Amino acid sequence: MTAPALALDGVKVNRAEVPVVHDVTLDAAPGAVTVVLGANGAGKTTLMDGIAGLAPVKAGTIKLDGTPIEKLPPYKRARAGLGYVEQARTTFRTLTVEQNLIVSQSGDGDLGTVYKLFPELDKRRNLQAGHLSGGEQQMLVLGRALVSAPKVVLIDEMSLGLAPMVVRRLMGTVGELAGMGIAVVLIEQFANLALDIGAHVHVLRKGGVVFSGPCEELRGDEDRLHRLYFGGPPLSAATEKDSGTTESEPE
Ligand SMILES: Nc1ncnc2c1ncn2[C@@H]1O[C@H](COP(=O)(O)OP(=O)(O)OP(=O)(O)O)[C@@H](O)[C@H]1O
Ligand SMILES: [Mg+2]
Repeated sequence: MTAPALALDGVKVNRAEVPVVHDVTLDAAPGAVTVVLGANGAGKTTLMDGIAGLAPVKAGTIKLDGTPIEKLPPYKRARAGLGYVEQARTTFRTLTVEQNLIVSQSGDGDLGTVYKLFPELDKRRNLQAGHLSGGEQQMLVLGRALVSAPKVVLIDEMSLGLAPMVVRRLMGTVGELAGMGIAVVLIEQFANLALDIGAHVHVLRKGGVVFSGPCEELRGDEDRLHRLYFGGPPLSAATEKDSGTTESEPE
């Protein structure tokens, strides 16, 4: 089995001194999309903020390519190879597309890769980012995470407020990122779109992982997803035998 690019073990994350995420253990393989699902308020963004260093990790370890990063400041985590596409879509609105990419560039990252993935941005290099459509802004935010040549990219709800066609197009690109060898961690409100391109999925409820397993186990199973998101009576043991799957109730 390929060594994980990102490995979390027993991670607890606080938000404003309040424990929100507890005891999360998961990993993300290079060249694959790892999906993180959960209802509103489950703690998905808090977990990503903890990984990126924007919220305090109170316990546990976070390893990037085997090196612990949980004590590093955010910029050093980024430099170590962590890209983060935050839930709030932000660009420098008065800078051009190209300037937005240049200010985020570091290491081996190059703009050509971004323009190849997003010809829409290539055509608008000299346009101020504030004039882009919502979908193009999201492409630029993704592009900014890519110009530092990351090993791991965390993507939090990139589809928020976008038309289904644009979302599908962006999902295709997320698959391409994995194809480039990047370990993608994808949080997504459209669970089935994410499960379609993902390999493994982790479902969070009340800040804890209640399901870890292959995406195909949850694909199209709305009832089970609903039960994992919101709780409910356990399924019969017979359906929980898959060796790659763990399912548990939060404390
Ligand atoms: N700055 C904050 N201060 C205190 N509590 C917070 C703060 N931000 C988030 N929380 C709380 O932490 C919990 C988890 O929030 P979080 O934003 O991580 O959830 P989420 O799964 O990303 O939800 P969504 O799907 O709505 O984005 C929620 O109960 C929320 O109210
Ligand atoms: Mg969130």
